[in-house]
Amino acid sequence: MKKKALITGILGQDGPYLAKLLLGKDYEVYGLIRRYANPNFSNTDYLGITDKINFISGDMTDEASIINIIKAIHPDEVYNLAAQSFVGVSWDQSKVTTEINALGVLYLLNAIKYFSPTTKFYQASTSEMFGNSHIEGLQTEETPFYPRSPYAIAKLYAYWIVINFKESYGMYCANGILFNHESPIRGMEFVTRKITDGVARIKLGLSKEIYLGNLDSKRDWGFAGDYVEAMWLMLQQEKPDNYIISTGETHSVRDFLDIAFKYAGIDNWEKYVKLDPRFRRPAELFSLHGKNDKAREVLAWEPKVKFNELVKMMMEADLKRLSVK
Ligand code: NAP
Ligand code: GDD
Repeated sequence: MKKKALITGILGQDGPYLAKLLLGKDYEVYGLIRRYANPNFSNTDYLGITDKINFISGDMTDEASIINIIKAIHPDEVYNLAAQSFVGVSWDQSKVTTEINALGVLYLLNAIKYFSPTTKFYQASTSEMFGNSHIEGLQTEETPFYPRSPYAIAKLYAYWIVINFKESYGMYCANGILFNHESPIRGMEFVTRKITDGVARIKLGLSKEIYLGNLDSKRDWGFAGDYVEAMWLMLQQEKPDNYIISTGETHSVRDFLDIAFKYAGIDNWEKYVKLDPRFRRPAELFSLHGKNDKAREVLAWEPKVKFNELVKMMMEADLKRLSVK
């Protein structure tokens, strides 16, 4: 019999990459989607998998819908990727961010505990939980957390409630502490996609400039396609655990701009980039740089796509998309 996986957040960035991976492993894939007047399947379309997914309607903030879905499917594995995932917005919409990112996880865990206790559970935890905390410039599984946004605080609740259900009820629950990962289907408001879309528009004469916030922020940016493999591996281990998933390299927003403009053949990018205080955060994370030794050793996982290749992949996709319009 085929294994059944439920993916929440199926229409976001990671959901489609994970669904594609699981379909390739012959899973039956269920995807939870919210009710929309006009749902947007562009990301699953991009990966050519829309008609292979069993979409099921529900909402992370509606406990009864979550219970009904778990009861109906009895999945072997649940990957909880649904979130209000944009850090910047979490100060303005802190309640809904908390409801989705923290309470939604509790609803899923309770539903599994009562109605499908052998289901394995993956939680999309995040390097945001570290804030500016580090050990000699790096974040490891042992680095103390110090969240700096309503988003990160809600995610920290989720991280601990996952561990608590594992320890209290013997459930199979794993946290992937993922550092930033990007792709051609990254949401448009995140800085990488905003840059590749913006540079492609400038190159094609569709726009004159890009408005950005803090250019000195540093992130450990990897490729989403590599990171979903780690999610799956975490649920194939004998015992559940928590793992950092990162590239082990850190780069600034400026570095990203450098490569993107270079790829487009545009010199002196500074004249096209305008600083706009609207895109600065009330509290910033200055540098994320993850040590991924545990994932390499235990999961035999490693990132494949390098930083330069990632920027080029995204630039190429945005230039292609905008050229055919
Ligand atoms: P994303 O593109 O923003 O996708 C999030 C998905 O969650 C969207 O499909 C969204 O649905 C869904 N969602 C939001 N609220 C919901 C609700 N109330 N009920 C049901 N679904 C809801 O995020 P991503 O980049 O794929 O990230 C996946 C997960 O990993 C998130 O939990 C994120 O916080 C976490 N994470 C991401 C990164 C990263 O760098 N990408 C790093 C660490 C952790 P709609 O399409 O309907 O809006
Ligand atoms: N979005 C955005 N827009 N960020 C900007 C801009 C801008 O115009 N200008 C500078 N930045 C800086 C932000 O201040 C931040 O320091 C950095 O670029 C990255 O911002 P985002 O791309 O929005 O990502 P993030 O690091 O805040 O959050 C992402 O990664 C987390 C993991 O570390 C999201 O995917 C989160 O969901 C995820 O948990």
